[in-house]
Amino acid sequence: MSWIKERRKEKYYRLAKKEGYRSRASYKLIQINDKFHIIRDGINILDLGSSPGGWSQVISELNPHGKNLAVDIIPMEKIDNVNFIRKDIMENDFPDFILSKFGEKFNLILSDILMKTSGDSNRDHANSYFIAKRVFDIALKLLEKNGHLVVKMLQGDLTQQLIKEYSKYFREIKITKPPSSSPRSPEIYILAFGFSGS
Ligand SMILES: C[S@@+](CC[C@H](N)C(=O)[O-])C[C@H]1O[C@@H](n2cnc3c(N)ncnc32)[C@H](O)[C@@H]1O
Repeated sequence: MSWIKERRKEKYYRLAKKEGYRSRASYKLIQINDKFHIIRDGINILDLGSSPGGWSQVISELNPHGKNLAVDIIPMEKIDNVNFIRKDIMENDFPDFILSKFGEKFNLILSDILMKTSGDSNRDHANSYFIAKRVFDIALKLLEKNGHLVVKMLQGDLTQQLIKEYSKYFREIKITKPPSSSPRSPEIYILAFGFSGS
């Protein structure tokens, strides 16, 4: 790992420790929200791939009067004002199950999910496309009209294809890379604004 990359990781690791966040990832959501203002207090938020809970902590702080649900295949320790369900988003019944448990649709869906990387960039990119596509399909079933979606992906040839596939369902789709995300990592976040409704 390069010196600069080490320093960046170290900086956010220390900051997270100091500010009581469970992971450095919290700063990615804070920076995305500072730029795009996607979190308003009082809304319904779904956090996919939530463990260990860095994003859910930020959601709990910024949406104290809303309803927040976090989901992961591994456990997550309790966070105030965030309910947790342990479930795999790839299971066929996922959208119906979440709807039956939560009872309402969501104004904002976030996904920080990534499969274990293999080191083969083409393969890792294809896997991340597969996950991002699944998250978009889930969002089409679980988002409120005018709701927003944030999805992590590893950038590559299929990124524009994904955006093209789903652009008809949203007012606008953008790509962002928060400063706390390593510039040497292909990780990006796709933001889809204003769901047209199902
Ligand atoms: C980068 S971590 C998320 C970090 C989190 N946003 C935070 O701030 O602490 C990715 C998470 O996605 C979860 N994950 C991977 N595949 C999943 C799946 N199919 N369904 C649900 N969660 C999954 C992993 O267990 C892991 O906890």
